[in-house]
Amino acid sequence: MLVNGKSYQTIWMDESDETRIRYINQQVLPFEFRIEDMLSSKDSFDMIKTMKVRGAPLIGVTAAFGIYLACLEARQQHEPLDYIREQAVLIKDARPTAVNLAYAVDRMMEKIEKSADLEQMIRNAREEALKILKEELNASYMIGEHGLELIRKISDRKKDKPVNILTHCNAGWLACIDYGTATSPIYRAFDEKIPVHVWVDETRPRNQGARLTAWELGQHGVPHTVIVDNAGGHLMQKGLVDIVITGSDRTTRRGDVANKIGTYLKALAARDNDIPFYVALPSSTIDFTIVSGMGEITIEERDKDEVRMMEGSSGSILQSVLIMPEDSPVSNYGFDITPARLVTGLITEKGIIKALESEIMKMFERVE
Ligand code: MRU
Repeated sequence: MLVNGKSYQTIWMDESDETRIRYINQQVLPFEFRIEDMLSSKDSFDMIKTMKVRGAPLIGVTAAFGIYLACLEARQQHEPLDYIREQAVLIKDARPTAVNLAYAVDRMMEKIEKSADLEQMIRNAREEALKILKEELNASYMIGEHGLELIRKISDRKKDKPVNILTHCNAGWLACIDYGTATSPIYRAFDEKIPVHVWVDETRPRNQGARLTAWELGQHGVPHTVIVDNAGGHLMQKGLVDIVITGSDRTTRRGDVANKIGTYLKALAARDNDIPFYVALPSSTIDFTIVSGMGEITIEERDKDEVRMMEGSSGSILQSVLIMPEDSPVSNYGFDITPARLVTGLITEKGIIKALESEIMKMFERVE
């Protein structure tokens, strides 16, 4: 997508130096657009842990490149495969909720374990990481293709008045390689000249909506308005939301959705107001091993300072300020579960399906 009129993806391999992975640092957006280098498997762990990169598909691709770098580092190790396995365990542990991380690490390790020697491991790891990247890119694109029809139908019904879409957190191109998940149909609709307007939940505590979604929509010229997290229900009651589209960090085989904290409340409000609630996700986000989201998904609990403090820019300086009594207890769950019954449909790279085990398993050919 565009940044200052130039096309970017979130992460890529340097064309002239394949030991260097380049990425957009999301910690400093929207105040600074900074491209940094990932040079080691440790960098990959740190980037995921500290959320320089975030969003389920991007975490997976970052992990895949991290394992490729671990293979390069293994040239300096007595027991190369043991070293790679150790790095894989570390990286997989960086964040628990988004299944894309485990999915990418497992895929990489399967290729590596099958390789005859270290040089083949390196070649296979490079190839697999690039393959995962390309698959995520294509999946995001196809989600846009399928989701576009939902927006087009609403637009036809509204006789070309803007379609108001509410989204939560950042399930945009910054969370993926390009296009996004929730945003991919929105960008497609906008590019097709369908009038759209996006309500952007700020998404406390880290404000991925206000900082990242608003920024990327703005860069592409998509009309949008940032709202506080609690405004969605009110806007729905006033008839100002036509459709909700969010992303997902892990969707179970029956369609329960783990996504950024607050998603569940939007789904409840949408149901109460008869507004369609769609979740856009690539198949790499489906955890086919679990049925229910209740109790079977580890919900990440993050640093309490994310709640206690608020980060913003004063002039060119990024600053954090305390926003509550210093000694009040705090809890900080990063994700919640939206049960499948509240989900109108899943927008996947293969098409739109109901959040039902039978449809999910059939669509992805997981017959058991
Ligand atoms: O904690 P984050 O910023 O990684 O959370 C991101 C989300 O919750 C997104 O909605 C999700 O990853 C969807 S990915 C396109």
